[in-house]
Amino acid sequence: MSVTILNHSLVKHKMTNIRKKETKTKDFYQNVSEIAGLMAYEITRDLPLKEIEIETPICKTIQYEIASDVVIVPILRAGLGMVDGIRGMIPTAKVGFIGLYRNEETLEPVEYYAKFPDSIASSIVLVVDPMLATGGSAAQAITMLKNRGCKDIRYVGLVGAPEGINHMQNVHPDVDIYLASLDEKLNENGYIVPGLGDCGDRLFGTK
Ligand code: PRP
Ligand code: URA
Repeated sequence: MSVTILNHSLVKHKMTNIRKKETKTKDFYQNVSEIAGLMAYEITRDLPLKEIEIETPICKTIQYEIASDVVIVPILRAGLGMVDGIRGMIPTAKVGFIGLYRNEETLEPVEYYAKFPDSIASSIVLVVDPMLATGGSAAQAITMLKNRGCKDIRYVGLVGAPEGINHMQNVHPDVDIYLASLDEKLNENGYIVPGLGDCGDRLFGTK
């Protein structure tokens, strides 16, 4: 498993925007979406390509296009904030959904929804969720996808805690992780420090 922390000035600048407590819903969503779009460039660097013959206005030529189907799977709710940005970069991507929420006392993920495209098992699957805290939600989502036959799964998040990365390394050592930032730790309530607070609430204005 590899852990890639994106080292990009624009990503860092936009991350600062979403960390600020005064950033309101509209700007918060816009920045999350833009960071996800920028991350798509790195995540898809090694996607398999196939050769195709096309004709330019000048001549015929052999060029390349993406060879595999890509499915974006947001973990509801907060993962939804990353979908538009990545779809903007990969317009042919399909979208599946996993609904999970953390039990506030145990911090264990609770499953409430799942819906996937038929072709998911043979696709490259990008699991997207801004927050990798204990890692419980990401690990459960990936187990659900593996149970449906998925083999090439990548996890894409914005902020990770060391605890979440360790958990993923133990449970799914085959899954590569991409993050915009690796933060310090979790606090006693399971929130990432310094983090950005409750991402779902900030994206959707629910608190
Ligand atoms: C948040 C976040 C992740 C999860 C991360 O979701 O979006 O899914 O917590 O925590 P973990 O790594 O400890 O599992 P939340 O449960 O708050 O649901 P929401 O997105 O609907 O707000
Ligand atoms: N979920 C969030 O939305 N924020 C955190 O810091 C941890 C889990």
